[in-house]
Amino acid sequence: MPAISASAPGKVILFGEHAVVYGRPAIAVPVTEVRAKAIILAEPLAAPGSVRIEAPDIGLRAEMRNLPPNHPLVRAISLVFTALGVSRSPAFSVRVTSTIPVASGLGSGAAVSAAVIRSVAAFLGKPLPDDQVCALAYEVEKIHHGNPSGIDNTVVAYLRPVYFVRGHSPEPLVVGQPFTLLIGDTGVRSPTAHAVAGVRERWQADPAGYEAIYDRIGEIAEQARRAIEMGQVEQLGPLMDDNQAWLEKIGVSSPALDRLITAARQAGAAGAKLSGAGLGGNMIALAAPEKVPEVARILLATGAVQVIQTEIKPV
Ligand code: PMV
Repeated sequence: MPAISASAPGKVILFGEHAVVYGRPAIAVPVTEVRAKAIILAEPLAAPGSVRIEAPDIGLRAEMRNLPPNHPLVRAISLVFTALGVSRSPAFSVRVTSTIPVASGLGSGAAVSAAVIRSVAAFLGKPLPDDQVCALAYEVEKIHHGNPSGIDNTVVAYLRPVYFVRGHSPEPLVVGQPFTLLIGDTGVRSPTAHAVAGVRERWQADPAGYEAIYDRIGEIAEQARRAIEMGQVEQLGPLMDDNQAWLEKIGVSSPALDRLITAARQAGAAGAKLSGAGLGGNMIALAAPEKVPEVARILLATGAVQVIQTEIKPV
């Protein structure tokens, strides 16, 4: 039997992170330049039910039954077995690799889950539709942090820009006019759970103040949605800057993010903000085509460990 593989892209949140946990809208897009991949091989010589998991990037090579049930890879595979009513699968090995930096706002956990879920289901002869991949990946996201909004698993499962409100079906976002983003990595790893918990504590201490900020961020996401759909790219930069100002107020920016964001703006970016949980991880800058080389150069000169260029275009 030939190997079966599936992959899933990274993602960035353009507008609305954190406020999305509290029910406000957010916008996210896939980043296909980085990907998680899962390759499955049948192991006809191993006993039925045996599943070997290999993830060389994190030095993991183990039998699934020897790993804890809440290990994200174990959980992803078990969820597929349950969804498909498989009590004992034919023996297989799954090898997971990823070029998406971990804990840096690019949705690495959700992409790994989506790739594993899709490949295991395909191996079992029952490929899953996007909505089910999304739902199962959401269950795994709960391990990464207790209260995920669901935006990460949604954008990587549906493979297209989405306008997302927690608890609602995602709405595909029509992109009226392509635009280019530069994604700059501070190199500082920042677990989502930590940033989300910090925001929650501050929200509990000042619910009215934080709810008002979430409202403002939600309005920015709404305005951005209209601008993206109408192809009014010139409106997006100021909206990104505005969103960043509110993210700073809720305490999720960081000196390394601020440095890259300021440098990008000075180099001619139309707007810049952190993306994802913050406190490290990645920032995004919107740059007109003629500004892209200079903004990328300045980001690297200011300490970005990696700069990814991606074009957001109509699907
Ligand atoms: O840092 P990431 O890629 O896990 O994105 C987190 C986005 C948050 O809004 C901060 C959390 C969430 O669950 O939506």
